[in-house]
Amino acid sequence: MDVESPGAPMREPSTSGVGPAIRIAAAGERQAAERTERETVIELQDLSCYYGSFRAVRNVSLQIKKQQITALIGPSGCGKSTLIRTVNRMNDLVPGYHTEGRLLLDGQDLYGKDVDPVAVRRRVGMVFQKPNPFPKTVWENVAFGAKINGYKGDMDELVERSLRRAALWDDVKDKLKQSGMALSGGQQQRLCIARTIAVEPEVILMDEPCSALDPRSTLQIEELMAELKREYTIVIVTHNMQQAARASDTTVFMTMGDDRAGYVVEQAPTVEIFTNPRNQLTEDYVSGRFG
Ligand SMILES: Nc1ncnc2c1ncn2[C@@H]1O[C@H](COP(=O)(O)OP(=O)(O)OP(=O)(O)O)[C@@H](O)[C@H]1O
Ligand SMILES: [Mg+2]
Repeated sequence: MDVESPGAPMREPSTSGVGPAIRIAAAGERQAAERTERETVIELQDLSCYYGSFRAVRNVSLQIKKQQITALIGPSGCGKSTLIRTVNRMNDLVPGYHTEGRLLLDGQDLYGKDVDPVAVRRRVGMVFQKPNPFPKTVWENVAFGAKINGYKGDMDELVERSLRRAALWDDVKDKLKQSGMALSGGQQQRLCIARTIAVEPEVILMDEPCSALDPRSTLQIEELMAELKREYTIVIVTHNMQQAARASDTTVFMTMGDDRAGYVVEQAPTVEIFTNPRNQLTEDYVSGRFG
């Protein structure tokens, strides 16, 4: 295992309850990073999410740290999508949806009266489970959001820069005028990431971004995430335990109660969640005994 940071003490992860396939990448590097307290970008304060009278998520308090990858894991229906869709106000479009508690981005309450949800979505981008390029050319897919936002710079340059950052430029540089829908699934997902970063968000939310992809494309996206976290803060929902273990710095484990309301059981550095979780429910989940 490479440990770039000198002086980072290596703690051999215990293997209790964790399948051998799960490798904790660069644990030493992560532990060194964790010692430097990172700035909080998003803070959830006692946040509950309701669809009408149904409480889907209850009393979540979390801090999402800058330039880290936070993985959100937990059984189906525990409210992972609800929670991240709340973070960029996507759920505003669902009739009857409302929240209680507070959600802060850089200290600003995103559900404050004078906050424009469109502006929130510009600052907090989202990549979905199924790649969903627009039925437009590759170039237009990337330029679309920037155009709407009135981008005044060189659009060709922005498109190229965004595609390079999304590790897609070499694949598509001769196909810029072709339909984005004609790309492979993995390429389409990187196109959606390029489209998201073209508007320079602060945070990128990803809801199971690899679940429709093959293992090679999945690894490409994970490598891309590792690159992107130099500049962005990333929250990823995944059912893939190996992915959470490999790709994230912090993991949040959610489950749900008898009332089916999802809640956070534990948030901790990823290495701890997968090797030495504090809560038995977490241990059971990450070791595959539940969910
Ligand atoms: N638009 C909606 N209207 C009403 N209820 C909803 C809506 N979307 C989700 N729910 C309910 O909220 C709860 C949480 O759903 P959510 O999709 O957030 O779970 P999840 O953890 O993302 O699950 P999965 O892992 O299957 O994607 C579920 O009980 C679900 O039925
Ligand atoms: Mg979901």
